[in-house]
Amino acid sequence: MAKVEVELGNIPEGKNVIIKWRGKPVFIRHRTADEIEEARQTDWKHLRDPQSDEERTKKPEWLVMLGVCTHLGCVPIGEAGDYGGWFCPCHGSHYDISGRARKGPAPLNLEVPVHDFNDADGKLII
Ligand code: FES
Repeated sequence: MAKVEVELGNIPEGKNVIIKWRGKPVFIRHRTADEIEEARQTDWKHLRDPQSDEERTKKPEWLVMLGVCTHLGCVPIGEAGDYGGWFCPCHGSHYDISGRARKGPAPLNLEVPVHDFNDADGKLII
């Protein structure tokens, strides 16, 4: 399967980037220290799809997810919604800053694809 490499040095802290991978959008967010704190403080065990932020990220500052709403597949909007993450305008699903489903019809968190970091050249490989 084709891999995609993304130069992370071009993505400033606090910004989202969307790339295409296997025909799907992938969201990459360079999270701020405050966002990481918020994501990790969440009482995740009581969420509808219980996942800790640690399970969802290989490096806390980089959140990498498929940009496909787990309800019916629309593309959520970044920096929107009630939880400081993403909002799907199709039927009103809210995702937090870890991409976890928090409100609305989405049954699952935004999917984290298998990915890796090449620290030597500062690239993300999906
Ligand atoms: Fe996103 Fe329905 S497709 S809320």
